[in-house]
Amino acid sequence: MRILHVVGARPQFVKLGPVTRAVAEAAREGCALHQDVVHTGQHYDVALSGRFFEELGLPRPVVDLGVGSGRHGEQTGRMLAGLEQAMLELRPTVVVVYGDTNSTLAGALAATKLNIPTAHVEAGLRSFNRRMPEEINRVAADHVCDLLLAPTETAMQNLSREGLAERSRLVGDVMADAVLELAGRALRDCDAERRLGLTGQSYALATLHRAESTSAALLPGLMAALSACAKRFDTLLLPLHPRTAAALAKHCPEWRPAGPVRTCEPLGHLDLLRLVRGARAVLTDSGGLQKEAFLLGTPCVTMRTETEWVESVAAGGNVVAGLEPDGIGAALSALLEAAPERAALAAGAAECYGGGGAAQRILLELTRLGNV
Ligand code: UD1
Repeated sequence: MRILHVVGARPQFVKLGPVTRAVAEAAREGCALHQDVVHTGQHYDVALSGRFFEELGLPRPVVDLGVGSGRHGEQTGRMLAGLEQAMLELRPTVVVVYGDTNSTLAGALAATKLNIPTAHVEAGLRSFNRRMPEEINRVAADHVCDLLLAPTETAMQNLSREGLAERSRLVGDVMADAVLELAGRALRDCDAERRLGLTGQSYALATLHRAESTSAALLPGLMAALSACAKRFDTLLLPLHPRTAAALAKHCPEWRPAGPVRTCEPLGHLDLLRLVRGARAVLTDSGGLQKEAFLLGTPCVTMRTETEWVESVAAGGNVVAGLEPDGIGAALSALLEAAPERAALAAGAAECYGGGGAAQRILLELTRLGNV
């Protein structure tokens, strides 16, 4: 069976790790499996792409389409043409797409139109906010893919409500696999706290990168909220996604990191896990980071109006704070006072997200899909 993984953006490289390792292990044990990775090139900066392949030991892409940035239609269209060509040449038995980016949508459309059985990892997540490009990508990918690999019961229910129950399988969460695989290494070997001068400090880790949060309408208020929240810590570290750096220069040209607020380049994945584990709190608009914080037992303030990861909110480890500075500050105060203990949060998260066996279950489902 020939498996083709389509990836293109940072969160997908993290999800790819456990699945490609499970496939490689099964192949070593004698299963007739071959796998290829195709990179769309949606993310191309070393800090968002190349470094992840090295650090996570991912198979090198056999094709990099080098699509780069652009408007949604333009970027997705270039991917669609390139992926179709790559699939015709590589002739996969099954295609796997991950998450909710434009690369996910392009991979799902290209493969299903070629009648190649296609699986969506992290299917069934919904924010119910159609203004998010990621929500459109998820809904469209789920409706065209043949096999929907859902991380949680909530995702299974969402798929069932959309008439997709027959194609859906509950496999657990590959990001939980990735955190469980990598957290030990991050804590043992990674000296990010020392390198960034955070040793012994009470610090928070913050990220902002979504299209809506980096808009002229919202970015100034969110930056003000972060500056206010930073007063609760020695340092609030804000690694800057290139989109955010560009948006700050455009919409908040006067803004400079000041007081406890510090910025840095995007973090490598081990550094990120190390700092999430060491932080008193995480403040973010990212989906993946909310879950990594939950799995590592660190309270999280989500600077959005909704979340796909409702389990982290139910467990008391995550507050959906909205987009107003006052609400974000109040959410942080509430969490710092009342969030459950780290160990309790992490144990609850492992229970919600499958406890680390998702990649094996995904591989089993892929072999069934490939044998049809
Ligand atoms: C994408 C995903 C989002 C995911 C995020 C992780 C979509 C619609 N969104 O958002 O779900 O959470 O990746 O980071 O697919 N840029 C660079 N260098 C790069 C990549 C991007 O400078 O390597 C800049 C470009 O100016 C680009 C902007 O970032 O226009 C946005 O990049 P894009 O790939 O459109 O989306 P992300 O914001 O990264």
